[in-house]
Amino acid sequence: MGANTDRVDGGYTSAIGDGSLIVVSNRQPYTHTYEDTGDTTSDDDSINDDSTNQDNGGNGERAINVNRPAGGLTAGLDPVLQRTDGTWIAWGDGDADEAVANENGAVRMPPEDPSYTLQRIWLTDQEVEEYYYGYSNRVLWPLCHGGVWQTDFADDHWQRYRSVNRKFANSVIERTDADSLVWFQDYHFALAPRLVREEVPEAFYMHFWHITWPGWDTFRACPQHRELIEGLLGNDLLGFHTERYCENFLDCVEEALDDAFVDHEGNRVHYGDHATALRAFPMGVDAASVRRASNSVGTEFWDEFRANYGISSEKVALGVDRLDYTKGITERLAALEEFWEAYPEQRGELSYVQKANESRSLIPEYQDLQADVTEAVDRINDRFGTDDWTPVVYLTDFLPQEELCGLYRFSDVMLVSAVRDGMNLVAKEYVAAQVDDDGVLVLSDQTGAYEELGEYALTINPYDTEGFVETIDAALHMEAGQRAERMRALREQVESHDLVAWMNDVFETAEDLRETRESPDADADVI
Ligand code: G6P
Repeated sequence: MGANTDRVDGGYTSAIGDGSLIVVSNRQPYTHTYEDTGDTTSDDDSINDDSTNQDNGGNGERAINVNRPAGGLTAGLDPVLQRTDGTWIAWGDGDADEAVANENGAVRMPPEDPSYTLQRIWLTDQEVEEYYYGYSNRVLWPLCHGGVWQTDFADDHWQRYRSVNRKFANSVIERTDADSLVWFQDYHFALAPRLVREEVPEAFYMHFWHITWPGWDTFRACPQHRELIEGLLGNDLLGFHTERYCENFLDCVEEALDDAFVDHEGNRVHYGDHATALRAFPMGVDAASVRRASNSVGTEFWDEFRANYGISSEKVALGVDRLDYTKGITERLAALEEFWEAYPEQRGELSYVQKANESRSLIPEYQDLQADVTEAVDRINDRFGTDDWTPVVYLTDFLPQEELCGLYRFSDVMLVSAVRDGMNLVAKEYVAAQVDDDGVLVLSDQTGAYEELGEYALTINPYDTEGFVETIDAALHMEAGQRAERMRALREQVESHDLVAWMNDVFETAEDLRETRESPDADADVI
């Protein structure tokens, strides 16, 4: 889904000015894979031509697919990079990535209209193991979500996180000059901003932290808390989804760095000779594309989908998640089991569809979660299922965007029960797909999305199974007028705060800060 970027206007052009936009993220916007080995999803476009085929050691040429951004931030930023001829620096993880890149790892994208540079960074297996699986996903991910017990602070992880941040930073430094606007994404790069600033202090650096920032009592458990904070303070602008995460970050700075000046009112930190502004930018979804996709599927899709998956019940509840322990999937299944126990008349009347995307499967905690989820699904289906009715339909197949949006559109109730989540964009996609205004969103109060959607969703605490059960019941019995009223209010919020509005907000803030920074009087004001 391409974002409606005609609306991304003055924000980015003036923020970038005469300089270049450099985006840094762990995941790349385009991945090249050999057709016979790679992930060939429906977003793939075969680019089986001379420029992208390579010889397979005497076995002839192998076709290469390019996997495109399917949605979210990557799809939103891609056209911005195209229009500004920017550079996107990311880990080249596709098995055919090297075959299509030049000797420096760069490739012009998109294939049909090469207009910006995708600079791939090659990582060895050990780097992937220790930087990506290790420090990023076994330290920062659980730590930031409050799961200190799930962290693995092995020193190898930390050392590799440092060296990979250095590797990315070097690549940024090569392309950055005083006019550049560099945008780091997420928790994989906490150290890089400072490393780059040390070399090119005049450029503008910003960072969006896509996950929760925890309170000091949690963050202080991390042996490297000081280095991480110092790294992030290399940015001019640091964005989080909510005000609370900004406040948590400020508290952590205050506690970790004696010599930092924290301006809580002005949302700023002065550290050394440099100031970092903090802002809450609640991220949105590409609501227009979701709406279009949802409108494009009719009831015939739904009839077919139900037939294919043997869904016989009148009502359908839905969950769509990456298989991550933060998403509260086992808590949700426990509530559903309890629901069918407490309301036997609902057996056969309600089915639950769990769309699950496998994730980070080399990490033991993720393997445990996958096992727990399949075990719970089997248990519930064994316990309540009949010849005519399967309580839980567990779906791991790839679903094209239209089908996912169709599933959103026709499901009666959406269950979002994350135990901790920086935002939760699935909740917003469900709302954006509700073109008939007849679904009900059940939303965990532990998500960032709760701040914006909590008033009109039915809200739950995912650990309160009894309350969750009653809320499922209330959602199923909510009368049509009430459903429409709530969903209209939710849609209004999601559509007016979509991905494009979010990008505009970030770029406009960057532009304001850049101007302020360039005016010598402005700094005197804030100290
Ligand atoms: C979260 C993170 C992203 C990440 C995504 C998928 O949303 O904030 O940075 O890309 O999960 O996880 P993965 O480890 O597969 O990139």
